[in-house]
Amino acid sequence: MKKYFKNILAGAMALTMAAALAGCGGTQTEGTGQEDAAAKEGEKKETLVMATSAAFPPYEYWEGQTIVGIDAEIAAAIADKLGYELEIEDMSFESIIPSVVSGKADIAMAGMTVNEERKKSVDFTDTYATGVQVVLVKEGSKVTDVKQLFEEGANTIVGVQTATTGDIFTTADIEAKGLGTVERYTKYGDAINALLANKIDCIVMDGAAAKAYAEKNEGLYVLDTEYAKEDYAIGLAKDSELTEKVNGALQELLEDGTIQSIIDKYIVSE
Ligand code: ARG
Repeated sequence: MKKYFKNILAGAMALTMAAALAGCGGTQTEGTGQEDAAAKEGEKKETLVMATSAAFPPYEYWEGQTIVGIDAEIAAAIADKLGYELEIEDMSFESIIPSVVSGKADIAMAGMTVNEERKKSVDFTDTYATGVQVVLVKEGSKVTDVKQLFEEGANTIVGVQTATTGDIFTTADIEAKGLGTVERYTKYGDAINALLANKIDCIVMDGAAAKAYAEKNEGLYVLDTEYAKEDYAIGLAKDSELTEKVNGALQELLEDGTIQSIIDKYIVSE
């Protein structure tokens, strides 16, 4: 009996570790500090489940066994304000909106850009940050300016994360026009490895994450010219009762400067 239990535990631990290593598919419950008191009183706190894709520093990424980052901290502050226990679920980016639509998760928070297409499936809160699409290259890349991607005969192989705005933009602007190929990756780590191995010419992705990857990987850098500007917001199921609550908490955190101080903690502006 005991041994059997131990094996299950070891198996579960190995799974958690593997998920953490793969940077995908993990779940993490974050204490807000209040659940201890709640537990003592014998009541169970309701959970707020956040769907994300946690290989996107500085917004969400694994640090040991925990998902940290701007989104993780903002979500924790929102959960705290509303009296929920936060649970963060790591998944592929393209699974985030479906998981909120199906009710498996309550909020989609993943440096997620507001766009009309997504608004057909989810409701968005107010914007809490701005993002920008940039081009990440490896030293010596033939791409030195974003404009080159749109030139006749460019024939660039562009890497993106599946279903992101980087994917949406390059599919329309490059692939559909026969100006190059788009390679789609579920995980940013795989796109980075392809870039390092010269299998692709560049990656179109969000600026803050691109910068974080460039800092961690020798030889990678972000081109000065930007592709597109965007707004990040939290997605919720259409007409969810939670939207007003979450947005109210977010607005308070925006007004009292909490959001800005969380962002400043992770992004040092030059
Ligand atoms: N801002 C982009 C989008 O909404 C990319 C977000 C990627 N986020 C992530 N956690 N991997 O499509």
